[in-house]
Amino acid sequence: MARAVMIDCDPGIDDMMALLTICASPELDLRGVTTVGGNVGIALTTRNARSVLALAGRGDVPVAAGAARSLVRSPVSEKEHAHGDDGLGGIVLPEPPGTVDARPAAEFLAATVAAATEPVTLFAVGPLTDVALFYAMYPQVAARLERLVVMGGSIGAGNMTPAAEFNVWFDPEAAHRVLTDPGVRVPTTLVPLDVTRRTGLGDADLAVLAGSGPIGALTAQALGGYRHGLGAVTPVHDAVAVLAVLHPELMTTRPARIHVDTGYGPSRGSTVVDLNPAPAGGPTVDVVVDADHRAVVGALLDRVTSLDRRV
Ligand code: RIB
Ligand code: CA
Repeated sequence: MARAVMIDCDPGIDDMMALLTICASPELDLRGVTTVGGNVGIALTTRNARSVLALAGRGDVPVAAGAARSLVRSPVSEKEHAHGDDGLGGIVLPEPPGTVDARPAAEFLAATVAAATEPVTLFAVGPLTDVALFYAMYPQVAARLERLVVMGGSIGAGNMTPAAEFNVWFDPEAAHRVLTDPGVRVPTTLVPLDVTRRTGLGDADLAVLAGSGPIGALTAQALGGYRHGLGAVTPVHDAVAVLAVLHPELMTTRPARIHVDTGYGPSRGSTVVDLNPAPAGGPTVDVVVDADHRAVVGALLDRVTSLDRRV
């Protein structure tokens, strides 16, 4: 029986890799996609999500748009868009068929989870604004989630600032709500930057992707420019979060309490990951602290290249 899943995302080049990985995995039954502003604005993240689904032959999957802005304070940065002005590194995808679901993301998430006959796993790979709104507006439905799997935060250094990882930095109050004070019990896995930045594609991996066919070639082209100044590898942060569900045996997790800095100083958006044993009953998040990086990359390549091998 395939696992029912949904994903909230801000495509975004690595979000594209995550969507393609889900579409390439028969173990996962994708029930819907919601989008949030982050890497680029909400109109572009929504269009990009629909275009990538159509590219993977899943134009049937409903897409609902969510928050255009963060909950409390708009983030300010001089950094250029790491994903390009269009959010997908300049690749050109056809205009997606069909229309966007008219419901706001939080409502669409709640309706889809409530209608599911089995628990749904939700991936959150952008700013956590939509998930925070889902929890605040529909706590009883959110409690029915099988698990929330978040790409975000960092045990050590950040990538948007020295202290903060982008998804949490973009909306720290939403991240606090979801990771620290959810107001509802949802088993949660956090896949932080410390692991994802070491699980990237090297030039040989990109060549395998580029040579697999049209979908792989477009994906390799998009990934080509997304280096985040990391040099040797191209990160696929969000796709690693999908692998945490597909291949948990490749990851090491530890329970932790998460503190999110929602102040207005230089460490705003940073996450303190307390791996010390929590007092009995205290809320904890399962944090991925290590992974078999090459096995994860191999599994990602196997799945995404399989899209071009379909008859
Ligand atoms: O820090 C990595 C995260 O920020 C990823 O989700 C990437 O898509 C960007 O949104
Ligand atoms: Ca993302």
